[in-house]
Amino acid sequence: MPIDLRIASTSAPVRRTPLYAVLACEGEQPKLPAGIEIPALAWKEFKGERNQQRLADASAGPAARVLLVGLGKPKDLDAERLRRAAAQVVKKAEALKLDACVLECPAALARSAGSPEAAGCALAEGAVMGSYAYQKMKSKPTPRHLGRVELRGPSARFARGAERGRALGTANCFARDLQNAPANHLTPRMLAAEAQKLARGSKRVQCKVLDERGLERLGAGLLLSVSQGSSEPCRLIHLTYRPAGRARGTLAFIGKGLTFDAGGISLKPAAKMDEMKFDMSGAAAVLGLFHALDALGCAHEVHGVIAASENLPDGRATKPGDVITSMNGTTVEILNTDAEGRLVLADALTYVRKQVEPDLMVDLATLTGAVVTALGHEWSGLFASSTRLRDALVAAGERVGEKLWPLPLEDFQKEWMKSQVADLRNINDPSHGAGSSAGAAFLAPFAGDTEWAHLDIAGTAWGSMNRDWVGGPGGSGVGVRLLFEFVQSR
Ligand code: BES
Ligand code: MN
Ligand code: ZN
Repeated sequence: MPIDLRIASTSAPVRRTPLYAVLACEGEQPKLPAGIEIPALAWKEFKGERNQQRLADASAGPAARVLLVGLGKPKDLDAERLRRAAAQVVKKAEALKLDACVLECPAALARSAGSPEAAGCALAEGAVMGSYAYQKMKSKPTPRHLGRVELRGPSARFARGAERGRALGTANCFARDLQNAPANHLTPRMLAAEAQKLARGSKRVQCKVLDERGLERLGAGLLLSVSQGSSEPCRLIHLTYRPAGRARGTLAFIGKGLTFDAGGISLKPAAKMDEMKFDMSGAAAVLGLFHALDALGCAHEVHGVIAASENLPDGRATKPGDVITSMNGTTVEILNTDAEGRLVLADALTYVRKQVEPDLMVDLATLTGAVVTALGHEWSGLFASSTRLRDALVAAGERVGEKLWPLPLEDFQKEWMKSQVADLRNINDPSHGAGSSAGAAFLAPFAGDTEWAHLDIAGTAWGSMNRDWVGGPGGSGVGVRLLFEFVQSR
């Protein structure tokens, strides 16, 4: 159950609350409203340093306790700091076993974080995302204490931003629920059912699902070859959002949806193999985007295409050395069955080019372990066919606190992916290194001359404990707010 986030004005009366939280930068002493008083010592000890928290019992006024939260130097203040601070507040309230709290954003703060809209949005996102906990697999879920959070801000613009932030935080949590679902609770068919459920509940979103027969008819040999070793059939999920008026353009987003990746015949080692339930995080991001589009809308026609499959070893599984024909006719020598993400994405890219013909397409995939080595858990790897698309994605990432780092993709790297036997091979020679670029280089010919970007989210989709708003272990919902911001700002 997500928290009930109420949005109010700082001029509204302050009702009784167990906790009143106030944010402040270094050197600032915010005014407490409605006669709330705390000991002088608490003010003395609170320096406003980044991540500093000072809890004090209130001696007067409608709040039982006050939490002062530091934001660091005023010149470093941005939306991400507010997002993280809001997440810290709700986590503290939960740790104190409180059922409600108030979070106030003073007028000066709302202005200095870009705009009042941006401040309201970031604080609401932080509060919603920071209180996320995955409990679906518990026979007796531990009851959550914090039920209600009142977010108080100075203006109508702040409130509008907060409404938007609440919807985006909710979409992020929706994606995280999908990521965290164990593979036996979320098969490719169940992922397709989730997409259909989303479309059924929405006026503007439609969903079409292709099963194996439909995929055979289209010649989706690569996607079919990956699911061949599993008794679960694969699916291609196609979501469409249509705006009320004339669409400003057509955008397509493609998600890798491996509901489990054991590696196939090129079997993975046992350690951490359980984490490969997260190999559908690209798909979760795309579904989360449509959750947000349903709630908030946008001016573009947006397509979401998900290639959903398992990758398991079996008597019928694809073998190293097998050659498979893709949807666009290119033949591929499979030298490592664990490099399966690029295979399912290749057919999805062809599908989008043929069926949608978008202005541009962006794929998201937990594609390579190498990107975790290169960038860790805070930056997703970015490959783009144009500097314009690259810069637009980096800027959107900066605004939502989901950072992207451009990595190289050059023509000589595409040569690495040529096969002696077939047209292409699915891995490069180990002596080349640059495993993440090789993955992108394999995809590039399938994107053809369509403007295209590839996001490798293997490091950021889970394991990012440093970001307060992630709120614990498991999926981060990375990509949802990034894609929505990108679509809206275009
Ligand atoms: N899903 C994995 C990538 C991955 C590995 C994500 C670890 C997060 C953590 C992908 O399908 C894969 O297995 N990639 C291989 C490619 C290799 C065989 C060229 C990898 O990165 O090892
Ligand atoms: Mn793999
Ligand atoms: Zn994989």
